[in-house]
Amino acid sequence: MTSSMATVSYIGATILFILSLGGLAHPETARRGNLFGMIGMALAVIATVFGPQVSAGGLPWIIIALLIGAGVGLYAAKKVQMTQMPELVALMHSLVGLAACLVGFASYIDTSTVFPTAAEKTIHEVEIYIGIFIGAVTFSGSLIAFGKLSGKIGGKPLLLPARHILNLVGLVLVILLGNWFLNTHSTGVGMTLLLLMTVIALAFGVHMVMAIGGADMPVVVSMLNSYSGWAAAATGFMLSNDLLIVVGALVGSSGAILSYIMCRAMNRNFLSVIAGGFGTGGGAPSAAAGGAEPAGEVSPISAVETAELLRDARNVVIVPGYGMAVAQAQHVVCEIVKILRDKGVTVRFAIHPVAGRMPGHMNVLLAEAKVPYDIVLEMDEINEDFPDTDVAIVIGANDIVNPAAQEDPASPIAGMPVLEVWKAKTSIVMKRSMASGYAGVDNPLFYKENNRMLFGDARKMLDEVLGALNA
Ligand code: TAP
Repeated sequence: MTSSMATVSYIGATILFILSLGGLAHPETARRGNLFGMIGMALAVIATVFGPQVSAGGLPWIIIALLIGAGVGLYAAKKVQMTQMPELVALMHSLVGLAACLVGFASYIDTSTVFPTAAEKTIHEVEIYIGIFIGAVTFSGSLIAFGKLSGKIGGKPLLLPARHILNLVGLVLVILLGNWFLNTHSTGVGMTLLLLMTVIALAFGVHMVMAIGGADMPVVVSMLNSYSGWAAAATGFMLSNDLLIVVGALVGSSGAILSYIMCRAMNRNFLSVIAGGFGTGGGAPSAAAGGAEPAGEVSPISAVETAELLRDARNVVIVPGYGMAVAQAQHVVCEIVKILRDKGVTVRFAIHPVAGRMPGHMNVLLAEAKVPYDIVLEMDEINEDFPDTDVAIVIGANDIVNPAAQEDPASPIAGMPVLEVWKAKTSIVMKRSMASGYAGVDNPLFYKENNRMLFGDARKMLDEVLGALNA
């Protein structure tokens, strides 16, 4: 492939990636967005592999690597459960970081490029240094995020004494080593300095994510997504590959925007998330994380009674959460919705921005079950409608419907916007026990007078509700 053809393909791929991001912004256009992304990526890979930057001798190696990578990717995509998606994404980010590091070291060792001026050589070395730094932080941070999301490492924040000072000292050291690196003429010394900086960057990534509590993990995942984009962009600079720079910048900036949106959805300040120290493990049925312990009686309800309430309602709002994903209950939910709508009941879904374990988790599940998009509403679009709702049914959600966020200033999730299901005439919470959700805080909703608890696995309970509705 000639150089101009490769350039044209790169421009085509860039346009397709931008269209892809635009498409992914809405469920109705998301499929098309994915398709654009896939075509763009295929075009980018073909133009790179057969482009002028790859010599004929290198081609077999690239094809072997492509086959291995594609095989691992296909296997992982087929095997992964929807609920394990965030872990897989974190693992993938770590690979982008590792690739940036390896490309950085390879570029430094590669002496085949001749730089016409000293300034150009310095710029190249700055690219290498920054690229390896971002890559190493992304690599180790993503591995720790993977460990935390998969439960291999506890969700509790690790708060070392004087941790901010430690971070600051690390940063100053990285700057000093960088200055030395740019001024040395010995490749051996340069390599040693690069390795030293990499060790500091790896430790920095571990320390940063270890200090972040379970409740802030959604922001961390999207932040590492953003870092992986910047690592890719840095790699693009090192390899003088324009497409990689553009794509890296697209991923980096969209990840940063997503982090901002998530912080807003959780009423968290981005800097305080990075500084760490918020959120506990989750899953414990206690008020261990702080805040007042809720008091009152819990009123259980049966599946048959739930069906009766739903049948008599005019307005129903369904709030899905992580438990619906675990139970894979979206298909039976869809069947119940069909029956109710046929009976003339208005049914809508209320989606919290951080419901589940990844951005858009609930939208993906509902789309998979073929729930019409027009009845799936965002939190801001539906929150005011709860007072006019007869039944709000919460399926395996907890933190996102916790009134303590509004009522208890001492609660660790105080200030986080939540779906106000308790304002409905009746709310029904479907879950297996009184255990807390991801943030590890108790939920006073369960004790409210107008709330009923439908205990059991969401799928099993909904099957029973469906049976009762059909009877
Ligand atoms: P959670 O607060 O985690 O609550 C989920 C509830 O589902 C649990 O209390 C659990 O209670 C119940 N559950 C689990 N398996 C179930 C099953 N088979 N059947 C019925 N219920 C089941 O979920 P949420 O309300 O969706 O809130 C999301 C939380 O995750 C937030 O704290 C958010 O910050 C965090 N988070 C979000 C993301 C993204 S990006 N969305 C990423 C990481 C973390 P039982 O054990 O009693 O059944």
